[in-house]
Amino acid sequence: MKPKVYITRKLPDQVITQIRERFEVKMWEEEETPVTYEVLENEIQEVDGLLCLLTETVDESLIKKAKNLKIIANMAVGFNNIDLESATKHGIMVTNTPGVLTETTADLTFALLMATARRLIEASYYLENGDWKTWSPMQLTGQDIHGATLGIIGLGRIGEALVKRAKGFDMKVIYYNRSRKAEQEKKLGITYKSFENVLKESDFICLMVPYTPDTINLIGENELSLMKKNAILINTARGGIVDEDALYHALENKEIWGAGLDVFEKEPVPLDHPLLALPNVVSLPHIGSASIATRLKMADLAITNLIAGLQGDTPPNLLNK
Ligand code: DGY
Repeated sequence: MKPKVYITRKLPDQVITQIRERFEVKMWEEEETPVTYEVLENEIQEVDGLLCLLTETVDESLIKKAKNLKIIANMAVGFNNIDLESATKHGIMVTNTPGVLTETTADLTFALLMATARRLIEASYYLENGDWKTWSPMQLTGQDIHGATLGIIGLGRIGEALVKRAKGFDMKVIYYNRSRKAEQEKKLGITYKSFENVLKESDFICLMVPYTPDTINLIGENELSLMKKNAILINTARGGIVDEDALYHALENKEIWGAGLDVFEKEPVPLDHPLLALPNVVSLPHIGSASIATRLKMADLAITNLIAGLQGDTPPNLLNK
């Protein structure tokens, strides 16, 4: 009998053919609606493998319902949606998809930085709304990117890829990371600073840390108060890393200059969220890794992990310790 697999979202045929040959596959057929917790609770009971997205909360109560589950393959590099500790306790492997989305996410992070600094979205609406009556000296003026100081909080793969883009714009790059990375400092021409000093000295602050109990509300009222008046905060990591109320007040009171947000504490972000009403916020619907090629690679890698795990091999991106 073939092992059973449940896939929580419709994936392109070209990537799932290889698992259809090996496994009995059931898939949530919707593209724009996530599988409900109730459906997942039911499906997880009998399957050997689960391929899920960051939209699915795989918590202890769900994990306990699984009788045969051997592997949870997450199609994302972040895995805060899965209770890894509980999975490990129940002998279930958990995998993610690092590496394949690094450059694409760095591209988007830099694009968001530029769009926020130069008010691209606001300017486009300005034109479309018929507000463009003349060219004028200080109309829609923003912040310079070239020559500015970029502060990266969390120098992982995506942080390093971001440095390459910043260097192309003659930016000075400083970073904070839990452990200092001497080799990267030399190779990339970047400078290590304390967390507080990165906040104090940067014109742009990019959050590139994973979402863990240690990084919940990492940026709150106190941290925002340390930033420069012209600072722009960019978050393409996870919404919960920033205290959104504190950010709203800092932006509203012009304590910092702007924010570019690809992620929110609650996603999809409610349309009446106060941050969305601010002109100095550029908001995106969590599209950091959204290039066609990268999303196909992420699906492929999740499948590779799933196949390895169900064949009794060690998956290439095993997260359990
Ligand atoms: C991830 O992989 O964790 C991103 O947030 C989506 O690509």
